Amino acid sequence: MSGMVFFSVSMSLDGFIAPESSEELMGKQWMELQQWVFRQRHFRENLQLGTGGEEGRDNDILRETFERTGASVMGKRMFDAGETMWPDEAPFHTPVFVVTHEEREPWRRPGGTTFHFVNDGIEAALDQARTAAGSRDVRIAGGAETIVEHLNAGLVDEFTVSLSPVLFGSGIRLFEGIDASRVALAQVAAEASPKTTHLKYVVHLR
Ligand SMILES: NC(=O)c1ccc[n+]([C@@H]2O[C@H](COP(=O)([O-])OP(=O)(O)OC[C@H]3O[C@@H](n4cnc5c(N)ncnc54)[C@H](OP(=O)(O)O)[C@@H]3O)[C@@H](O)[C@H]2O)c1
Repeated sequence: MSGMVFFSVSMSLDGFIAPESSEELMGKQWMELQQWVFRQRHFRENLQLGTGGEEGRDNDILRETFERTGASVMGKRMFDAGETMWPDEAPFHTPVFVVTHEEREPWRRPGGTTFHFVNDGIEAALDQARTAAGSRDVRIAGGAETIVEHLNAGLVDEFTVSLSPVLFGSGIRLFEGIDASRVALAQVAAEASPKTTHLKYVVHLR
């Protein structure tokens, strides 16, 4: 039995998930966007930043998201940004299928993450991810372009946006290019923590 297809991202209150340039990626706005994540125990353990960290609902949400994920699909720009920043043991610990025009051999990391580079589109990447995930879910890891492609194709079952108290003004907009005439949502959960609000939606096509 195959699992669900979902995504889970942090978004600024004005709708952005990242600054425009990857050089700014560790800048002030990014830190504010992700501040609900950085101090969590699960995040610190998974990125090998040391022991300790906060435990609570934010931490549980990170851990649950990690544990449900049997494989991920990722856009090439997210991969490019991560390639320079992830530790040797990349934080996925599952297969990751990178949609790209670039041909490249699989990149195996210690700790169970293998990046496979898929050159024939999102459906091919998703098929491979579903097979790899088995009964677990497939996460569309990001970024925005790859998420919107999956949404517009009707391939996403549900998603969570963690809405952070920061304004970007410009950057990479999550829903840029969304086909609003087709993609409809039902809100199924809303949980506020001191640093973010987790909003969960089920997706259906009109
Ligand atoms: N806030 C959050 O929670 C969060 C989560 C995830 C990511 N992000 C951020 O999102 C940013 C990246 O997002 P993005 O929207 O700019 O880009 P993206 O979705 O990561 O990557 C887009 C690129 O992927 C390749 N691609 C996508 N669809 C394809 C297809 N059907 N066939 C072939 N290649 C395809 C193309 O690259 P090529 O043509 O070069 O191959 C395309 O330019 C990063 O800064 C990352 O940090 C934020």
